Amino acid sequence: MDTLLEWRKEFPILDKTVYMISHSLGAMPRRTSLRLQEYADLWATRGIRAWDEGWWNMPVQIGDLIGNIIGAGPGEVVMHQNVSICQSVIASCFDWSGKRNKIVSESLNFPSNLYIYHGLEKVGARLVTVPSEDGISVPLEKMLQAIDEQTQLVSISHVIFLSSFIQDVRAIVNRAHEVGALVVADIYQSAGTVPLNVRELDLDFATGGSVKWLCGGPGAGYLYVRRDLWPGLEPRLTGWMADREPFAFEAGPIRYAPDAFRFLNGSPNIPGLYAARSGYEVIAEVGADNIRAKSIAQTSLLIDLALEAGFKVNAPRDQNKRGGTVAIDVPNGKEVTRELLSRDFLVDYRPRAGIRVAPHFYSKNEELELIIREIRKIIDTGTYGHPSRASA
Ligand SMILES: Cc1ncc(COP(=O)(O)O)c(C=O)c1O
Repeated sequence: MDTLLEWRKEFPILDKTVYMISHSLGAMPRRTSLRLQEYADLWATRGIRAWDEGWWNMPVQIGDLIGNIIGAGPGEVVMHQNVSICQSVIASCFDWSGKRNKIVSESLNFPSNLYIYHGLEKVGARLVTVPSEDGISVPLEKMLQAIDEQTQLVSISHVIFLSSFIQDVRAIVNRAHEVGALVVADIYQSAGTVPLNVRELDLDFATGGSVKWLCGGPGAGYLYVRRDLWPGLEPRLTGWMADREPFAFEAGPIRYAPDAFRFLNGSPNIPGLYAARSGYEVIAEVGADNIRAKSIAQTSLLIDLALEAGFKVNAPRDQNKRGGTVAIDVPNGKEVTRELLSRDFLVDYRPRAGIRVAPHFYSKNEELELIIREIRKIIDTGTYGHPSRASA
């Protein structure tokens, strides 16, 4: 008896689709509509007073809900719009012109992150990316070897977005700290499906967003910074909310706030935060360990079914090294994906990975069988027809 299936009532789209895309856009909880209505009602009835009556503190208040999920303390997480901004805020805290100018990352890190670090090459940074040998995993030894006394920042994805490979964050943090480097983990593909604790991992920074496993919708990314680092970090990507007295409206230079507000910049995306809140609440209620136990069982089943059907699977076989997504690599994967979408099987396609399929706590085992059968049917009947229009 799978008691988590009780949650299906909370997600309207599950009645109409086989929803296997929570690695990309988690299903919307029913209560999100109420939250967004609350936002509109407050604005409509309280006007400008809404800032004092809740909006101003939302970036930290909603951050606390995330903190609860990822093991951060109260006031240690601030909300931004997305991961790209959070990574840029972090990168802007450092001087890249000196001897300690190296950034170590993996070639399978999310492209936004690498784009930002490549940009820093113009101001003196040296980016070293450790390649994957199999397109799935990142060789730990090579990561550790790349981190040396000239390394300022190590930037890793906890779970690799293409293959779902889980990196050994603790080993990487230990090595980085040994040589005086700091570590940022992109936890977008772990928070909400693979339990983690930023304090136990001794991370310096962590960032992620709400769109995927947390079912919080677009427009809300989060940034955790280890508390003892705050006084020494002065982001150049900044704004008036980061000043210690924003309502003094004094001309610069900025005097950074002593708390996590120092990592904010301009006005926050308030409606995005209202929407995100409902997702975070649901995930906390369901419980990270319950989600993980079910995810391991379902991704294992999915891999077995895919292999039985004769498909190639681009995901780690070891369940302890695998996050919530299974990439299934079939010929004409992009076109097959388009056909699946038109039949209400919601998945996506990524080059070098395949069709990404992700059950979440609200998924039924029978849906896994259905999707594998559907992929087989599409391939056998050749009904994917028209390459190139595929949205992926
Ligand atoms: C691991 C990871 N990091 C970052 C992103 C993108 O983040 P954002 O759009 O919030 O900048 C994604 C997916 O979109 C992702 O999977």
